[in-house]
Amino acid sequence: MKQITAIYPGSFDPVTNGHLDLIHRGCKLFDRLIVAVAQNQEKGGPFFSVEERVEMLQAMTSELENVTVDAFEGLLMTYCIEKRANAVLRGIRAVSDYEFELQMALMNRKIEPSVETVFMMPAEKYSYLSSRIVREIASFGGPLSGLVPELVEEHLRRRIAEKRPATIEIPTK
Ligand code: PNS
Repeated sequence: MKQITAIYPGSFDPVTNGHLDLIHRGCKLFDRLIVAVAQNQEKGGPFFSVEERVEMLQAMTSELENVTVDAFEGLLMTYCIEKRANAVLRGIRAVSDYEFELQMALMNRKIEPSVETVFMMPAEKYSYLSSRIVREIASFGGPLSGLVPELVEEHLRRRIAEKRPATIEIPTK
């Protein structure tokens, strides 16, 4: 029987409970699932380095036998061919995700017709969750429980503390 290797690509900056929900669903469907962290060129730079994101994902998926974590640079389809992957897994939370995901899936199909994109929905409770919102809540010291694993929350708090500007001492007379 044909073995299906799927790539779950993303920025994962940071990994959220929504991503983990999708990884758990995906690894039941595919023979092998490679979670692939993209080197992204976001304005202002990423919150966590690729190495940090890979480490966090590895820690969160260590008990899943058919899941590996990797990083990639360049075109996703080039990486899929390199890994002999037959599918790309992407999560769709709401209708608003669909337009961008459709464009990406069709463009990827044009580049490499042998790779199929498979969409899965995370649990409804994660439908409003995104890495961007998590970063914003974290930067204002808001509550993160239930949004990200505890380990990721610790990393976020530490990174925010590092980024906080030193307090200005106002001299007293
Ligand atoms: O988590 P994200 O930011 O939604 O992930 C987007 C990602 C990394 C999957 C996408 O930007 C991507 O595939 N980047 C690699 C470059 C590429 O192949 N671009 C063409 C896609 S049509």
